[in-house]
Amino acid sequence: MPTRPYVIDQLISAKSIAARIEELCHEIHDEFRDTDKLVVVGLLRGSFVFIADLVRELDLPVEVDFIEASSYGNSTESSREVRILKDLRGEIHDRDVLLVEDIVDTGYTLKHVIGLIKAKGPARMKTIALLDKPSRREVDVRADWTGFEIPDEFVVGYGIDFAQRNRNLPFIGKVRFLEEE
Ligand code: IMP
Ligand code: MG
Repeated sequence: MPTRPYVIDQLISAKSIAARIEELCHEIHDEFRDTDKLVVVGLLRGSFVFIADLVRELDLPVEVDFIEASSYGNSTESSREVRILKDLRGEIHDRDVLLVEDIVDTGYTLKHVIGLIKAKGPARMKTIALLDKPSRREVDVRADWTGFEIPDEFVVGYGIDFAQRNRNLPFIGKVRFLEEE
């Protein structure tokens, strides 16, 4: 549970997210239109809302799988050490994979998971992140598709949490701590 009092200011509306997902799905569709073996892999837990909207907008035969990596614990600082808490259930060898992440921040998580998936020998792998904070990057990695680039703010909502709270907000908001004003 968060300990310091904070408020949430809207940064990206639910309507803007939906419009952006529609655009992205056109591009994803073009990339994967020739395949019937696409596996959409969500990185838990932050991508669960994004992946739900994404696959429903994507007019392709897909399978859905999940992988869980540890990240922030209960703080707003990245741990840099990525641990896999839950691996994929299905086989992705020789399959086409779309990896879905909520935010690329320092980049450690995405880089680590890309390596892990590549080691399983997919036919093709692409990555999509809803949000990207390029100014925070510490390792060289980029998603093939990005929903929105955002400044260095701690955000919540649309699946994304602060100490496990606020995942159920329909929009993306930024956390503003009250004591810091
Ligand atoms: P990275 O390994 O530093 O790139 O961190 C990626 C993970 O940290 C994301 O998948 C998120 O789960 C989490 N994260 C990064 N920035 C934020 C944020 O602003 N709010 C909530 N979680 C975040
Ligand atoms: Mg995450």
